[in-house]
Amino acid sequence: MLASLVFIVVTAACAAATGMGPRADAPDVPPLATVYKSCKNKGDVALTFDDGPYDYLEDISKALVAAGGHGTFFFNGNNFRCIYNMADKVKYAHAHGHMIGSHTYAHKDLTTLTSDQIHNEMWLVEQALQRIIGVTPAFMRPPYGLYNDLVRQVSDVRNQSLVIWDFDSGDSTGSSVANSEALYAAVASKHPNNVLAVNHETSETTAYQVLPYAIPKLKAAGYKLVTVAECLGLPAYQHVGTPGTPDPNTWKC
Ligand SMILES: *[C@@H]1O[C@H](CO)[C@@H](O)[C@H](O)[C@H]1NC(C)=O
Repeated sequence: MLASLVFIVVTAACAAATGMGPRADAPDVPPLATVYKSCKNKGDVALTFDDGPYDYLEDISKALVAAGGHGTFFFNGNNFRCIYNMADKVKYAHAHGHMIGSHTYAHKDLTTLTSDQIHNEMWLVEQALQRIIGVTPAFMRPPYGLYNDLVRQVSDVRNQSLVIWDFDSGDSTGSSVANSEALYAAVASKHPNNVLAVNHETSETTAYQVLPYAIPKLKAAGYKLVTVAECLGLPAYQHVGTPGTPDPNTWKC
């Protein structure tokens, strides 16, 4: 009794002395995952590609690698394609030095889901990536870029940071090729300027028209094409292990 009284007095005194409210890491206030919206290093461009794995992955990879750079793919589990049917593309991207992040399973608006449902949307992609390439992602891009405190709490429990963007090529919102190219030209002319760009792996015009224009333009301006992890100076994965043994009966969407 006496001990707990003393504890309360000391705590109150500390709070008064620092002028702070409850600590953010107190047990009843769940911590929130960090949200990254831009690169840290000036002169870096992190080109990211959402909604795959999809058919244009190799072409996007070749354009990046030919320019001496790498990009980041935020994969869904079951969106345009089922990730298990695209396992070769996932392996290809990983083997060619690109970073793999999670875009969650079925591209749902996570802000409409319960905690359990968010966990499930995240876990299903972690499981797929562990099985296919043996990694657990450290970064998650919420579908539509939408998140709330619950999404951040669940992400923190799952040891993943959120990645949004500060540059949108407009390829999922009806931007013309000319318009996307103009946006890239404008950002290239602002070098050095830390850029975290969102594109969509499922956009044919991004793969075959915008990137062949934008990548040389960014390079010529002096930008370095790096992964999200590189542009933040953090590890890309929580764990790197051995891929799982294929079992066609369980590896399904
Ligand atoms: C959380 O992820 C980081 C990499 O972002 C990793 O170094 C750390 O070991 C992970 N922690 C756990 C408990 O898995």
